[in-house]
Amino acid sequence: MTEHSATPKKEKSRFGLILHLHPRKVRASTLRFSLTFGLGGMAALLMVMQVVTGLLLKFHYEPSPENAYNSILNLQESLLFGKMLRNIHHWSAIAFVWIAFLHMLRTAFTGAYRPPRDVTWITGMALLLLVVLSNFTGYLLPWDQLSYWAVTVATSLLSYIPLAGEPIRKVLLGGAEVGQPTLTNFFNLHTGVIPLSIIALMAWHFWRIRRAGGVIVAEKDRESPMVDTRPHLVNREFVVALVLFAAILLISSLFDAPLRERANPAFSPNPAKAPWYFMGLQELLIHFHPVFAVFVLPASVLAAAVWMPYVKSSDANYGIWFLSDNGISSAKTAAAAGALFTVIFIMSSELLPDPEALLPAVPPLLTTGLIPFIIVTSTMWLFIKYMRRRFSLNRSELIQSVLVLMVVSYAVLTVTGIFFRGEGMNLAWPWNI
Ligand code: HEM
Ligand code: HEM
Repeated sequence: MTEHSATPKKEKSRFGLILHLHPRKVRASTLRFSLTFGLGGMAALLMVMQVVTGLLLKFHYEPSPENAYNSILNLQESLLFGKMLRNIHHWSAIAFVWIAFLHMLRTAFTGAYRPPRDVTWITGMALLLLVVLSNFTGYLLPWDQLSYWAVTVATSLLSYIPLAGEPIRKVLLGGAEVGQPTLTNFFNLHTGVIPLSIIALMAWHFWRIRRAGGVIVAEKDRESPMVDTRPHLVNREFVVALVLFAAILLISSLFDAPLRERANPAFSPNPAKAPWYFMGLQELLIHFHPVFAVFVLPASVLAAAVWMPYVKSSDANYGIWFLSDNGISSAKTAAAAGALFTVIFIMSSELLPDPEALLPAVPPLLTTGLIPFIIVTSTMWLFIKYMRRRFSLNRSELIQSVLVLMVVSYAVLTVTGIFFRGEGMNLAWPWNI
């Protein structure tokens, strides 16, 4: 007899798919909202909303530089609920990045990335990258000034990746600059390859969660009683889904997705900024040699995230937020340190003399690449030593502190890039941009 066959027939037909994704019974302790905040479920719902609204948009949208912009104008102005449909797709896309990111933090801060959840964590990382890529490929489709130049800036970052960067950029653009082949490529990636990959990875992600015996629970709650998935879990998920749906509808009726004038390849706005989720990278580019800003640093972070589950630490309180009281205090210190270091870093590279001008005989890869990289990694090493001594952290708590520091640091870089960079990407107050 299978797990599901004990479910009454009528109930099974009405809730077949939902119950199929869940075990028949779950531990009562996993139902606590504050354990997961329903973030994984919200991400799944957002994916469904993107596919449904995306397919409807596809009926009207024309992927050619001549017609794309007009098809969006026409969709917004002449089609019943056309504007609403576009708004929902736009705001859900942004919410998708945020929710997936917060879900990543939740799993990290409850120690849920360790085996047997290591593959869940790694498939999650891949999902987050794909969600960002689907945002990025969708960004070009309206073919307005904002999308054209944001994609031009962001794809130009690719050419700094050693060896593979330029060929990847050329294949993606289908030529030397953003044009018809780029739009065709982005459209096919956006409406075919990426969503299908997300769906396949989501299936793997869900299967791994089931295989690990559901979401993580603290040692003390492992013996809590088993309760029926329906109504206990399904009803809660339903409430979370309704609240999310209502919030997206509200935002979509209050705020319109931006649409500037039609793309003009001959006129570049100043400053030309990448989409918001890449602004941290564009900000890094101001301070580091491009090879370090868009390759060495992001690749190191990615490698560290994949390696994270396998760092041995026997004494962590998995399933408990921030792992311990010590974990909470150290996370707060790490957040403050991340903000402070990053502001000092931005200001010092603004105020100190340009190292390239100071040492013209030394290759820029050293002056603005390797040397600042060594300074940053040594600061990180000193920080780890300090945290170890100050809080006597175990390895899981230490990983958590480094993660907090990096997340806060990227947030400061992103906020600086979006709100404090004006003409020529110089520092400016937000009201002067
Ligand atoms: C994986 C989830 C998806 C995300 C995160 C996403 C994101 C986006 C974004 C950010 C835009 C630009 C919206 C704007 O103009 O502000 C967009 C546009 C568009 N997307 Fe998606 N999308 C997703 C899935 C899909 C799917 C599955 C389809 C169709 C099969 C689709 C079709 C379209 C179309 C036709 C447009 C152009 C219309 C417009 O810009 O308003 N999308 N998407
Ligand atoms: C499309 C994006 C994603 C979807 C639809 C999704 C879905 C889910 C769901 C439904 C759960 C179980 C309930 C919950 O924890 O809320 C879950 C658990 C998990 N997810 Fe995701 N997820 C996504 C992205 C990510 C990302 C970006 C990461 C991390 C990098 C991640 C790592 C994990 C881990 C480690 C678990 C196990 C948590 C535990 O056992 O407590 N997921 N995911």
